[in-house]
Amino acid sequence: MTPEPHSLTDTDPTPAPPPGCPAHGLGPGGLRRVYGPEAEDLAALFEEIRAEHGTVAPVLLHNDVPVWLVLGLTENFQMVSNAAHYTRDSRQWRAVQDGTAGPDHPLAPIFTWQPFCSTAEGDEHLRLRGAVMGAVSTVDFRGMRRHIDHHTQVLVNRFCERGSADLVGEFAEHLPMAVMCEVLGMPEEYGERLVQAARDMLKGTATAIASNEYVTDVLMRLTLRRRAVPQDDFTSHLINHPARLDDEEVCQHLRLVLIAAYESTANLIANVLRMVLTDPRFRAQLNGGQMTVPQAVEQSLWDDPPFTSVLGYFAKQDTELGGKRIRKGDGLLLGIAPGNVDPAVRPDPRANMMGNRAHLAFSAGRHECPGQDIGRAITETCVDALLTRLPDVQLAVTEEELRWSQTIQSRHLVELPVEFEPRAQQDVEVRPTSPAVHQPELGPYPVATAVGPEARPISRALPQPAPAPMPPSAPMPATATMPPSTPMPSTATMPPGAPMPPATPMQQTVAATAPQTSTASQTPAGQPEPAPGRPRRPGLSRLRGAWRRLLRWRRGH
Ligand code: HEM
Repeated sequence: MTPEPHSLTDTDPTPAPPPGCPAHGLGPGGLRRVYGPEAEDLAALFEEIRAEHGTVAPVLLHNDVPVWLVLGLTENFQMVSNAAHYTRDSRQWRAVQDGTAGPDHPLAPIFTWQPFCSTAEGDEHLRLRGAVMGAVSTVDFRGMRRHIDHHTQVLVNRFCERGSADLVGEFAEHLPMAVMCEVLGMPEEYGERLVQAARDMLKGTATAIASNEYVTDVLMRLTLRRRAVPQDDFTSHLINHPARLDDEEVCQHLRLVLIAAYESTANLIANVLRMVLTDPRFRAQLNGGQMTVPQAVEQSLWDDPPFTSVLGYFAKQDTELGGKRIRKGDGLLLGIAPGNVDPAVRPDPRANMMGNRAHLAFSAGRHECPGQDIGRAITETCVDALLTRLPDVQLAVTEEELRWSQTIQSRHLVELPVEFEPRAQQDVEVRPTSPAVHQPELGPYPVATAVGPEARPISRALPQPAPAPMPPSAPMPATATMPPSTPMPSTATMPPGAPMPPATPMQQTVAATAPQTSTASQTPAGQPEPAPGRPRRPGLSRLRGAWRRLLRWRRGH
């Protein structure tokens, strides 16, 4: 028991007041519930809680389990960066130890400790995360973009003749699964059954356990196949990483990656599409050619992060956060959505963040999402491809008619009905040949082959004219004719929420493609790569650089 009025260990067992009472909605100890009917409008509830308690507030989870909700952006960053005081290992949560958050708790599938990197700490976390990062580093963004484009065309073909579609159910919920199946090395497994199973698992329906077993079974069969005969895919690189994951660990991490990537990216695609269709700033700017799709993605990650919060972080010792005394064993919710609109750093929540990446959508610190560049690339590429294919697409209902489903964990658009001029299907029979992963050239393990997102010019919503073919000896436009580039403040080092100077179009392209760890394998789409192992001719790489500059210059970046 602690003497502080809002101690989590001192929530009194007073029953909730009756309906109609002004204090209705308060639970034991006078604390707010962040679940159930009182939490239908979570964004508004977060602001009430912030006004009452400040940046760190005691709240009640399902079954009235007390937990700290971290609402301040700075406090969230402090928590995730402090491995000495906070752990992701829920076995250290008092509520787990005393059984108030037992295996039958509605959120148990989220917080229960599992043998994967998300809930591991210390050396074990380094080992498991190292293997995931190694496999992520082999992803070839150029090859992956071809697959994203291909699957976008396949999905659009299914509804383009109709002139209408639901871009959540018919697009956003399918595209990331199709792409992740390619990346993991099981394109043949992509289908309605896998999509439904993943959705089912996340919704926690009565059939969630069977769906989980189905997904795990698919991934274990893939693990065994690749253990026997490795290929050039994410799964084989995960298996062959020097961390030497066993079959169970490989399967668990494939499941973590597939589900983490699927739900979050499906959410992000739907949110970005809604934003470009409804927000006049983006629609006008996209058509006018100033706002880039990556900037719309980043703005969406601030305003509508795919994960509302993460349960959770757990105090390893008595400590202090945002002026509150945190006791050893207390649980804390990483408040992504409330942190992103913290008025202390973002006084005007409608402000355009201009591509600033200092939000919480991917968390930070040692558990920061290792797949964020994949999530961004899938979203940017498919939104770009969809808007290029259907430039006249518009919302078929008013914005107010859009419905959301919301939990403390995430907020989903239920449907995004759109309409457009019906048009014929496009030929997409020919599958992209390039694999979605990069073949490491040095040794059997991919640890040293960091391949970042490809430097890709950002196209606009409207179809771009194909660049005129250049005669081999045609003079390249001199770089001096390009918009002058001025030094770009790094968003990574800027204080979160600090106002960004308006970026020049050139800066937008740079910011949108950072971080870029290697350019070794980057060529404009369609350019033949030199045969592996063949030394590149210096003249050829100069030509490639000039070709890239020409493309950017033609597209106005
Ligand atoms: C828009 C897309 C995505 C969003 C918003 C997102 C967000 C997050 C968040 C908030 C976390 C929790 C960090 C923490 O515990 O503090 C996380 C962890 C993780 N994500 Fe993502 N994610 C996305 C896409 C992906 C993709 C595509 C992959 C696939 C490679 C991925 C793999 C993971 C893994 C393996 C972890 C656990 C990392 C660790 O605990 O060390 N995510 N992600």
